[in-house]
Amino acid sequence: MTADQPMGLLAVDLREGTKDIHVMAERSKFFKCFFKGTVTPALYGRVLISLHHVYSALERILEKHKNDPNIELIYFREELSRKQGLEEDLEFFNGPDWRAMLSTITPAQQSYVDAIERCSRMDKPELLVAHAYVRYLGDLSGGQMLAKKLQKNNALPEGKGVAFYQFDKIEDKSAFKELFRIRLNQVEVDKETYREIIQEARQAFAKTIELFQEFDHELEDLSSSQTPSLLLSSPLPSPSLSVGGVSMEKTEMKGLTKEGDRTFKLQPASAGLNSLFLAVAGVSRASDLLLSFVPVNLIRSFATAVGIV
Ligand code: HEM
Repeated sequence: MTADQPMGLLAVDLREGTKDIHVMAERSKFFKCFFKGTVTPALYGRVLISLHHVYSALERILEKHKNDPNIELIYFREELSRKQGLEEDLEFFNGPDWRAMLSTITPAQQSYVDAIERCSRMDKPELLVAHAYVRYLGDLSGGQMLAKKLQKNNALPEGKGVAFYQFDKIEDKSAFKELFRIRLNQVEVDKETYREIIQEARQAFAKTIELFQEFDHELEDLSSSQTPSLLLSSPLPSPSLSVGGVSMEKTEMKGLTKEGDRTFKLQPASAGLNSLFLAVAGVSRASDLLLSFVPVNLIRSFATAVGIV
């Protein structure tokens, strides 16, 4: 988004503004190995330590700013907090002495924590909206697929080792995600801060990728799937590249109502429109994901067979 572009709907602009970097995260070496089942339980136990550093910082700082009118909108302590689930899984994967593993902090872990704390230090709590969006909507979305894979690949006993992905206080995840998006759209900030929130979300994705990259050298070598290193060295591209062309979704999202959202209810018409938005998001994510795993040769043969090329 450029300075003279009007502000849109934050839920839409966040999704559009992070689409490319979300695909990069999905295609990272860690997730490829995760889906192949080559991430060992011991390594996953250490990944959980990384996540513990991040969620401890995020949930501590969100709590500190819970009375900020914008944070209030997206702060669902009961429903979303992940720290307790993480701690259950940490014990499951690392044993009862897992807390000792928190005593050292790696550069990527520190850098992610710094980014979260910076929002508070700079007195810009609105930027935490971006961090909450990236973490919690991610956990409620792709996170659910990861949990199933984790369970299957490691033949985990029912309900064990996946507490991090379980949201016991949320009955209907799709409805809750809709509510979260409605709340995002109610965030009130000036144009510059709006732009910064989208940029901060991109940072949160980049920090997540860096977090997982710290494990790359321990993962089975998949020569063609190194995580793109530009994330560590180059400045991030501007989200203005990807926030255009969303007018249909914007119109749809504008039909949403604030009414009843504390109890996760939507007006029927609005719920329908928002489901359409969700379907578009889901199909686009699912196709991105699918394509990232399909060999290029297969796509070429298919395209030739159906006469596209
Ligand atoms: C292989 C790994 C991943 C897979 C398979 C995956 C898959 C998905 C899918 C299918 C959705 C769409 C769900 C829906 O709209 O209901 C989604 C949304 C999302 N994912 Fe991921 N994801 C992955 C990694 C990540 C990572 C690492 C993050 C960031 C920490 C992340 C953050 C998000 C966010 C914020 C959304 C919501 C987008 C929106 O609609 O605004 N995902 N993901």
